[in-house]
Amino acid sequence: MKIVSVVGARPNFMKIAPLLKEWRQFPAIEHILVHSGQHYDDQLSTSFFRDLGLPDPGINLQVGSGSHAWQTAEIMKRLEPVLIETCPDLVTVVGDVNSTLAAALTAAKLNLKIVHVEAGLRSYDTSMPEEINRKLTDVLADFLFVTEQEGVENLRREGIDPARIFLVGNVMIDSLLSCRAAAARSTILCDLGLIGGDARVRPYGILTLHRPSNVDRLTTLKGILASVHAIAQDLPVFFPIHPRTRERIRSLGLENYFAASGATRRGLVVIQPLGYLDFLCLMDHARLALTDSGGIQEETTVLGVPCLTLRENTERPATISEGTNRLVGLDPDGILKAAQQVLRDERRPARLPKLWDGQASKRIVRILLEHVQPDLLLKSKGVSVTPVCSG
Ligand code: UD1
Repeated sequence: MKIVSVVGARPNFMKIAPLLKEWRQFPAIEHILVHSGQHYDDQLSTSFFRDLGLPDPGINLQVGSGSHAWQTAEIMKRLEPVLIETCPDLVTVVGDVNSTLAAALTAAKLNLKIVHVEAGLRSYDTSMPEEINRKLTDVLADFLFVTEQEGVENLRREGIDPARIFLVGNVMIDSLLSCRAAAARSTILCDLGLIGGDARVRPYGILTLHRPSNVDRLTTLKGILASVHAIAQDLPVFFPIHPRTRERIRSLGLENYFAASGATRRGLVVIQPLGYLDFLCLMDHARLALTDSGGIQEETTVLGVPCLTLRENTERPATISEGTNRLVGLDPDGILKAAQQVLRDERRPARLPKLWDGQASKRIVRILLEHVQPDLLLKSKGVSVTPVCSG
């Protein structure tokens, strides 16, 4: 049995890592990891491979940055000969980035079986490139692995055959739970001057921003930065800045919202994008997270860190109904008031969404083997997990 997994951008890496670990338990399965090269620098890619113990990708398509159409098409052109040459039994794609859709389309045209991990999420906002990527990938996939019940309902409403849908939990949470102890050894809190003389962690917040809808328009970006700047007068806020956001802030001339450092214990402090373990550590101890990322909404739910999502919608409703997430939109006053409320309130205990227990990748591997190569499963030991819910 041969599997090709295609990854490309930062949020893909923590989703594929636990699956690779599971597949390694089956020496009879040949696994080929393909990196599209959508993300290529150390901060967005290589450091994640290091932190997550991912093997070097056997193949790197080195596509680099470009417009959505160019990037998607270029990945398809470069991946097609790889899939023809390797002829895998399964092609795995994760999440909702351009590399996900490009790989799914390429595999579908070659009549290869497609596995989509993190299927079914919907924001119902097609101005988000990720929403387009998710919907199209789900139409093409043969195995749809879903993180939360709402995702199953979405796929059913879209007429996807229920036999292809599996609610298995969240592979990104598998990574979080398995890396939390290593993250606790990160020196990031010391490096940022966040450990007081009494050895206690000083209170701080974190901010991440990269969605085109938030960072490409002057009024929106300025409003967000102004409100976080105001919040940061009481609570220092650390901002590991995405390269596209850094570029937008520079070109729009908005650097005046930044403090020189967090040493004064207030202000909005820009730092380099962090690796997986450093960011996990910083998030784990934060008093508040402000973000437009999908993954951080899920991670803060598991860590019990209050999260304010700077968007009008979310494709991850379980993080609100069961977790610590709140949608606050983009109105600067609304963001400020919501943050003040969080800082006044006691921390709300989070309930973990169903099956977010660190076992999702085990469930996925078991289901795939049952369907594609059941004899391997019979021979294997140690893949016993709690039951899987089929859609
Ligand atoms: C992509 C994903 C988004 C994901 C995000 C995580 C899509 C449509 N978007 O957005 O869903 O949440 O990754 O970061 O796939 N750049 C670098 N170094 C790199 C890669 C990119 O500096 O290694 C810069 C380039 O200027 C590039 C810009 O970042 O043009 C945007 O990169 P791109 O991959 O197009 O999208 P992201 O905004 O990172």
